[in-house]
Amino acid sequence: MASLIPEEKVDEVRSSVNIADFIGQYVQLKKAGKNLFGLCPFHEERTPSFSVNEPKQIFHCFSCGRGGNVFSFIMELENLSFPEAVAKVADFGHIDLPATYTAQAKSAQPKDQLQSDLLSLYADSAKMYQHILVNTELGEPALAYLHERGLDDETIATFGIGYAPKNQLLLDFFKAHKTDYQLLRQSGLFIENQAGELRDRFVDRVLFPIKDASGRVIAFSGRILTKSPDEPKYLNSPETKLFNKRSVLFNFDLARGVIRQRKQVILFEGFMDVIAAYRAGIQNGVASMGTSLTNEQIYMLERVTDQLYICYDSDMPGQKATDRALKLLGSQSRLKLGVVQMPDGMDPDEYLRAAGKEKFVQVFDNGKQTPTAFEMRYLRRDLNLQNTQDQLTYLEAVLKQLAQLSSPVEQDLYLNQLVQEFGLDKADLRQQLRSVVGSQTVHRKPTQAAPSLPPEATGLTPPPPELDEAVATPQQQSQQINNVPLSRVERAEQLLLFRLLHDHDVWLRVMALADFHFVHDDYQNVLTEAEAYFDNHRQFDLASFTDFMTDSRLKQVVTSLEFKDIATETSTEEIADLVNVIMNQHPVAEQISRKQTELTAAKQLGNQDLVQQLTLELIELYRQQQQVKQANSL
Ligand code: GTP
Ligand code: MN
Repeated sequence: MASLIPEEKVDEVRSSVNIADFIGQYVQLKKAGKNLFGLCPFHEERTPSFSVNEPKQIFHCFSCGRGGNVFSFIMELENLSFPEAVAKVADFGHIDLPATYTAQAKSAQPKDQLQSDLLSLYADSAKMYQHILVNTELGEPALAYLHERGLDDETIATFGIGYAPKNQLLLDFFKAHKTDYQLLRQSGLFIENQAGELRDRFVDRVLFPIKDASGRVIAFSGRILTKSPDEPKYLNSPETKLFNKRSVLFNFDLARGVIRQRKQVILFEGFMDVIAAYRAGIQNGVASMGTSLTNEQIYMLERVTDQLYICYDSDMPGQKATDRALKLLGSQSRLKLGVVQMPDGMDPDEYLRAAGKEKFVQVFDNGKQTPTAFEMRYLRRDLNLQNTQDQLTYLEAVLKQLAQLSSPVEQDLYLNQLVQEFGLDKADLRQQLRSVVGSQTVHRKPTQAAPSLPPEATGLTPPPPELDEAVATPQQQSQQINNVPLSRVERAEQLLLFRLLHDHDVWLRVMALADFHFVHDDYQNVLTEAEAYFDNHRQFDLASFTDFMTDSRLKQVVTSLEFKDIATETSTEEIADLVNVIMNQHPVAEQISRKQTELTAAKQLGNQDLVQQLTLELIELYRQQQQVKQANSL
């Protein structure tokens, strides 16, 4: 075992936490057949091939092959050591781990030194900036500014907001602590001049820590206190080893749990909007880093929910951005979409301050629009609908929009609205819509389910139609992958390994064959691990065996076996056949006849040493042949 945490404690932690709940924090899982499926958190994918088997408490990705138990999951995901992983799972399960283990977990050697040094540099910087804001005279103007904007001390603490003062302190602080110059250079916290001298990057700015999905500070965004034409309103950390702005969502760490709970995420334009909504109790909000949503960010969200509401500023630039985001998401993701808009061209933060919490929350409760409803209003922006020409332009654009909907019910809903507003004949409109549909060759994705329509009853969201043929259901996919043409030998090896682990009678019989070994190293290595495991475990337990093995590759080999549909019954004949297939893989007979030829030649040449060596080798081969025969008669 890799850890000094006693095995009983490890077992206790593992068995008190349901792997599906734990992984559910990171991956949205849905039942499909026996297993739960979701999008694999270890690589980008569009159709779920990541699977959790609840009865066995293991996971496996049919696409990348990763697998293991709850500890392997978090070790891999967050690059943790084994004790760190146990501590994290224990924390989730509210299980007390004695301080000694947790201390050990903290001191465990991190896998990547630079990354962990940068993380602690950012953690220290965030603490220091926050201290300056909250506790010092230097921070007073900034604190006043934040209070003025409606942020109370609790909110400031929740988001870890800080202040970088006019007189630069950070560099001196780290110099006093003898922090490595190269580390400081790479941190992005400083600006370097041509002489290689550093100075603080953030000066006289309120700092919003940017955190990764685990809540670790990896960058800052600094807002200027008073607008200035010469300086940007927000200044972000540059990209570093820790920080890639394409793959970060502001507040994702705090929001993730709430997003899962409420089964929806709200996407805001600015940090201040996310914070404002949070204060008002709407805590499932995130924002991208002032840019449009990237694919990485979409993947992050798709893993935890399937419903996204865009709540950008309701001024014209905000509406344009909403329109763009709807189009992007409509084509790039399978998220169901909706729009929330504040009244009177305000951004959410402004509206909360102007109208108060109650009214603010009401907008989210009652003001959700379908993408179509939003577009129907957006299309009017430059038109005068009193004017017949503009009316026609508008109707044409709306019908184009409606033609993309796959739900006749939803189409009907909007047609009725047009009938009402323009006093048109519905049959005419329908006729016109049909001709627009006919002229559109490209099929779009299915209806963006309207919030007012019943949610999909069950199952996974269907893939976009253009992918329909190519994409298999998770079950089909797992079958396909299970059926990846393995050689006959490897199939036999997998099945036999499964039997060996799960049926101790089989184990005893096969291990009695003095010379049994697998052809492929992976299976042989698992076998070796299993021998050691059975030395002090009477029974095979998948989860504890997974912890027992230290090599993550071997864990994957074992867990992937569990995801194959292997019948529980076995028979002596089956085992004999399997052993036979595997042992015959070594063409002993062939080797024997070759060695015999060599031996004859060696004898003729009178090479005594060689004769002796070849004779020994031949004896070994005869012995192996004997084993095969014995296996055949098992
Ligand atoms: P406040 O004026 O503080 O209320 O900001 P806001 O949250 O209303 O921001 P705004 O709507 O102006 O911009 C939305 C987001 O765009 C911000 O949260 C930032 O991420 C980003 N942004 C705005 N201005 C700048 C800028 O000057 N530079 C950079 N890099 N990003 C900016
Ligand atoms: Mn604002």
